[in-house]
Amino acid sequence: MKKITIAIDGFSSTGKSTLAKQLAKHLGYVYVDTGAMYRAVTFYAMQKDYVSENHLNKEALVKDLPNIKLEFHFNETLGFAEMFVNGTNVENEIRTLDVSRCVSQVAEVSEVRTKLVASQQEMGKNKAIVMDGRDIGTVVFPDAELKIFMNSSAQTRAERRFDELIEKGQNVTYEEVLQNVQERDYIDTHREDSPLIKADDAIEIDNSTLTKEEQFNLVLKLVEERV
Ligand code: DC
Repeated sequence: MKKITIAIDGFSSTGKSTLAKQLAKHLGYVYVDTGAMYRAVTFYAMQKDYVSENHLNKEALVKDLPNIKLEFHFNETLGFAEMFVNGTNVENEIRTLDVSRCVSQVAEVSEVRTKLVASQQEMGKNKAIVMDGRDIGTVVFPDAELKIFMNSSAQTRAERRFDELIEKGQNVTYEEVLQNVQERDYIDTHREDSPLIKADDAIEIDNSTLTKEEQFNLVLKLVEERV
């Protein structure tokens, strides 16, 4: 069967990673969560005090970029690859609301994007990959055989994200999460470098009213048409 590249883009908490993981598992493809990479750089930058909610020392971050080594290590038990920064597993640390509050500022920095996009393109050079993010179908793999653009209302997305954070024992309110979702939507769609937009040839899925299974079957049909 022909191996293809699957690009899944969309707003935060639209369930991109759930769909991407399901597809990768079913097809035996590699799954790459590019949001984790932006979050990992952000976590590193927060620890070095380069970034906080209302401040970014872009110059210091850019200077330190060559020292940030990102790696994914597949965890057999969890069934997905965990994010490591300079040899340390940061998979849990990068999912906090604190990191979510700083990540859009870091993702706006062109030098950060250039570094991460190059490494994403390298990971996908042999195809058989499902990658999710904001610029996969537009910048990272403009020639991807299948491009999906996912959307749903900010309220639906905030509810999902809130449930996830509570499940992980984090102390957050629904209003805080909704505000963060809306702020990230704004920054992600308005930044100068690689703003979140639907590629012309992407297929849009609004999953507000679809179950995970319905969504998976819909996309699987699209994959089967292409392989
Ligand atoms: O998918 P996520 O919510 O974990 O992504 C975190 C942030 O990273 C998101 O607010 C925007 C940024 N991002 C990006 O700019 N480009 C990508 N390809 C992936 C994520």
